[in-house]
Amino acid sequence: MSRLFEASVKENRRLTAEHYLLTFHPLKKIRRPGPGNFFMVSAGNGLDPLLKRPFSIHRRTGSDIRILYRVTGRGTAILSRKRPGDILEIIGPLGNSFPVRRSRKNTILVAGGVGIAPVFALAESLAASVKKPVLFYGAKTGSDLLCIEELKSIGIEPHVCTDSGDTGWKGPVTGMLREFLDKNPSVSEDCCIYACGPEHMLRSLSALAGEYGLRGYAALEQNMACGIGACLGCIVNTTGGYKRVCKDGPVFPLDEIIW
Ligand SMILES: Cc1cc2nc3c(=O)[nH]c(=O)nc-3n(C[C@H](O)[C@H](O)[C@H](O)COP(=O)(O)OP(=O)(O)OC[C@H]3O[C@@H](n4cnc5c(N)ncnc54)[C@H](O)[C@@H]3O)c2cc1C
Ligand code: FES
Repeated sequence: MSRLFEASVKENRRLTAEHYLLTFHPLKKIRRPGPGNFFMVSAGNGLDPLLKRPFSIHRRTGSDIRILYRVTGRGTAILSRKRPGDILEIIGPLGNSFPVRRSRKNTILVAGGVGIAPVFALAESLAASVKKPVLFYGAKTGSDLLCIEELKSIGIEPHVCTDSGDTGWKGPVTGMLREFLDKNPSVSEDCCIYACGPEHMLRSLSALAGEYGLRGYAALEQNMACGIGACLGCIVNTTGGYKRVCKDGPVFPLDEIIW
């Protein structure tokens, strides 16, 4: 089945000064995306900008797909101006997804900034599990914390922190997680971490997981050109050699990534 398809924009809602929630409806049947999978989305019409931009699946409602994105440059700025009825050219779903064992005793989810997009997808898929995951979520300020009500509506009360300290724990999400693990040592038994966020956060998380002997996986958000394994533009160094984030990932074991 070709992964190239057109989709019509159903909604493109502004959530904060720089975050948007885009819902699109694929105009043909597509493969069912899992948490961690991503889509390459055309920002403009025609050849400008030439390259599609990668975005994680955030939510699925029926056949509609939602992506949650932050405006960081030209492509996302153009995307933010899309209106209901506009047509997007998309490739996907692409990449691997978070490998989850539901029988595991403890599942820890960690999100930094807009990394909540794929982490929410995983949280939603695990929310009905007997043992709910524990979610740690950090952002710059309280107004950058997204989807809090949606998380509560699926039964997940996130532990939140901010750099500014205006909401929740003050400091980095890895600091909050360390404190939690120290206060709850039994959580480290049969535990796995799943994460997405900025590189510096994932690097600290990787070190923390190593220190506490925890297994973990991270969804990487490398700059991408083709998104389908052809250009080698998204290489990451791992203990198994150089790998393509778009084709071999975006989800990798934390202890395999060489930061
Ligand atoms: C697998 C994957 C999933 C992603 N999922 C999401 C998502 O769900 N929501 C979301 O908001 N973003 C996500 N991203 C990041 C998103 O693709 C980029 O922010 C986007 O491509 C930027 O496009 P632009 O044209 O606006 O910025 P550009 O004009 O291309 O770049 C503007 C600035 O942002 C930097 N930049 C561009 N891409 C990235 C990146 N991937 N990571 C860090 N800095 C970058 C550039 O170096 C430049 O400084 C994901 C990336 C990957 C690889
Ligand atoms: S973006 Fe081209 S190989 Fe990954």
